[in-house]
Amino acid sequence: MTAQTQTDQRDQRDIVDELITDHREALQLLARIPVSVKPDEQRELADIAIAEVVRHSVAEETYVYPAMREYLPDGEDLVNHDIEEHDELEKIMKELEKTDASDPAFAGLVHKMSDALRHHAQDEEANQFPRLRERVSHEQLVELRRKVDQAKRRAPTRPHPDSPNSELFHKIVGPGVGLVDRARDKLTGRTTTTK
Ligand SMILES: [Fe+2]
Ligand SMILES: [Fe+2]
Repeated sequence: MTAQTQTDQRDQRDIVDELITDHREALQLLARIPVSVKPDEQRELADIAIAEVVRHSVAEETYVYPAMREYLPDGEDLVNHDIEEHDELEKIMKELEKTDASDPAFAGLVHKMSDALRHHAQDEEANQFPRLRERVSHEQLVELRRKVDQAKRRAPTRPHPDSPNSELFHKIVGPGVGLVDRARDKLTGRTTTTK
């Protein structure tokens, strides 16, 4: 058994803990952008936030949607609502990925992305997530968190303590125009771009 597997088995955090941490971290990244005065740094932070949010969305779509559909009576409606929110976020991110950090529109788009993400996080944390915890066993939710962690290690958005040499995910997929689609393709193994 590898050291990582042992750590994973001791770690009792469930998928809800993991996804809430994602929300916080992405919001913190976005909050650093208006504080920076360097366009290069602002671009870098925006790209990392975009790559992180795409990875987070794919994790929810892959692991949370099936659980909501199976265990919550109105799961299908909740999934559809969340899909709409992810689409809205992607629209904003696609604007942001192609807007230069020196463009006056950049700050407004960062603000818009933060607002959409905060709204998304509130919906999930106040409604969907607590209901998942009511209906799905802790063991299952911990197992789902392990799967999300494994996927994260395959597509690191920043150096992971367990794989210090890993390249940044957003650098692997490249910055700027098309980042959202490239990140999604990479994470889902999709080869053609449909959006
Ligand atoms: Fe979501
Ligand atoms: Fe989320």
